Amino acid sequence: MLKLIQETADFLKSKIVTVPKTGIILGTGLGNLVTQITDKTEIPYETIPNFPVSTVEGHSGKLIFGKLGDVDVLAMQGRFHYYEGYDMKQVTFPVRVMKAIGIVNLLVSNASGGVHPDFEIGDLMLITDHINLFPEHPLRGKNYKELGTRFPDMSEAYSKELIDKAKKIAARNNIKVVEGVYVGTTGPTFETKAEYRYFRIIGGDAVGMSTVPEVIVANHAGMRCFGISIVTDLGVPGKIMEVTHEEVQQIGNKVQPLMTQIMKELVAEL
Ligand code: HPA
Repeated sequence: MLKLIQETADFLKSKIVTVPKTGIILGTGLGNLVTQITDKTEIPYETIPNFPVSTVEGHSGKLIFGKLGDVDVLAMQGRFHYYEGYDMKQVTFPVRVMKAIGIVNLLVSNASGGVHPDFEIGDLMLITDHINLFPEHPLRGKNYKELGTRFPDMSEAYSKELIDKAKKIAARNNIKVVEGVYVGTTGPTFETKAEYRYFRIIGGDAVGMSTVPEVIVANHAGMRCFGISIVTDLGVPGKIMEVTHEEVQQIGNKVQPLMTQIMKELVAEL
């Protein structure tokens, strides 16, 4: 695994002049931020050695090096989901590669179903913590101490400092944000009513099918993490309606410029 990571990192480093300090993983259909990146070098996943190839609809699947404002970033447009059939080592491989090229901050976005009774469709939730309900742990198996410690601390999986900065940025831009705990589960089914209720009872505010594996690996690697979830539907008793992938993308499209704004200003403060 170490060899594969290094090989991919070397390939990517050969394509760029400056190494960014910040990586951004963009969730389902959440590619709007990419329109704000200038001086782009785009690298399709299928041309990157050892990279899995994204299959789900709405994911274009490329790495984009460039500048967000004045800051060098690496954006991943389209991520690898466990439900697509990848194992957790594949899902989190890009994070390992980011670390190997020198990235120290990881920003992630996703779409989720809100289970907090006060949440509204279209809310931006700053992820304060997560609950890992994936059946496979990305760190299971041999631990390579070059990559991180055997038993990583997860007491501040999402940087409090970055959350505080994001709250200030949102306030000065008049963007409504909420905060909450993201429950990560496999999908690809959306939840039954009973499952939404269960996720609320166990301490969740929103539920989705991604992010947790990447953030676990980023913490293992000693990276600073920040996440925003777009609440695209509600799993709240009395407000539950049929959910479709298309609706999730539609709501995502509507609010993602606000998320982009927060990410852009946050990157400038890192
Ligand atoms: N459940 C799980 N994942 C999701 C949802 C949901 O309701 N909405 C968007 N992604």
